[in-house]
Amino acid sequence: MRFAGKVAVVTGAASGIGKETAKLFASEGAKVYAADMDLTGVEALAGEVPGMVPVAVDVCDVAQIKALLDKAGGENGGFDILFNNAAAGGARGGIDECDEAGWDWTMNLVLRSVAMGIHYAVPHMQHRKGAAIVNTSSVAAVGPGYSPTAYAVAKAGVLHLTKCAAMDLAKFGIRVNAVQPGFINTNIFAASLDVDQADKATVNAMIAQMSSHAQPVPRGGQPRDIAEAVAFLSSDAASFMTGASMIVDGGITVGPRHCWDPEAPGLFDTIQKFLEAKEAGGSGQ
Ligand SMILES: NC(=O)c1ccc[n+]([C@@H]2O[C@H](COP(=O)([O-])OP(=O)(O)OC[C@H]3O[C@@H](n4cnc5c(N)ncnc54)[C@H](O)[C@@H]3O)[C@@H](O)[C@H]2O)c1
Repeated sequence: MRFAGKVAVVTGAASGIGKETAKLFASEGAKVYAADMDLTGVEALAGEVPGMVPVAVDVCDVAQIKALLDKAGGENGGFDILFNNAAAGGARGGIDECDEAGWDWTMNLVLRSVAMGIHYAVPHMQHRKGAAIVNTSSVAAVGPGYSPTAYAVAKAGVLHLTKCAAMDLAKFGIRVNAVQPGFINTNIFAASLDVDQADKATVNAMIAQMSSHAQPVPRGGQPRDIAEAVAFLSSDAASFMTGASMIVDGGITVGPRHCWDPEAPGLFDTIQKFLEAKEAGGSGQ
């Protein structure tokens, strides 16, 4: 019961990582404000789990973020934990395909939402013992190749914002950390496609299949894997951590596939074959 008597706010709580984290907080004693643009989803969650308050929020609208935090703070004389998690894949493609509308939308959804979540939480969290904010970044912040470009840049911004905010809010006794999920089985991939429910189910099944082979740990990443890291960072066990980030990715960022998959061709395999052929008396060509 790490969160007994605590009040937590979780955005993106209708699905995936946010939903699992909201459930974990509640199961360990927290009163959880479960916020999402999908009100039906968080209402269903509140129906299942005691200690959950469903709230509608679109994190692209700063006034709605402020209203959510003022509600949680106003009803409880402040709150202890904020998990800035809601997001989606944003504008698709590389920078050659992303125009200013796609760029601005992605930055507002993925980065400004976190910045303003932190900003409007401060009056409700300052000087509360154990106050902790966790922001969802991504392995996409490590380097290119994991996501569309605008999303990757915004998630890298979330990491840097986490460090700056940790410094800014130290004077209020608020810790600020980030989590960087790898390839996790959630709706985020299907949700970014403009297709019907049947096709979304097919995409989710494909994702589940692919994800078990995507990294050194031989199983797909689950929302619970990330929820456990967020709960740790939010708990008093992490009271000496601020401005930090935890990569929880089954090892997807450790290196190219040949580093850990004996079946995959290695970087130097071709050279090795050339040398072996030469030693055997061939031309090596
Ligand atoms: N799944 C992954 O592989 C992965 C990897 C790295 C980072 N992440 C990040 O994890 C976080 C959670 O994503 P997930 O994988 O659980 O996806 P998900 O689609 O299962 O859940 C995201 C939730 O956010 C909500 N949401 C989307 N836009 C919103 C908005 N404007 N306002 C309010 N709510 C909104 C959705 O309704 C949904 O309930 C996101 O920040 C995502 O970028 C996911």
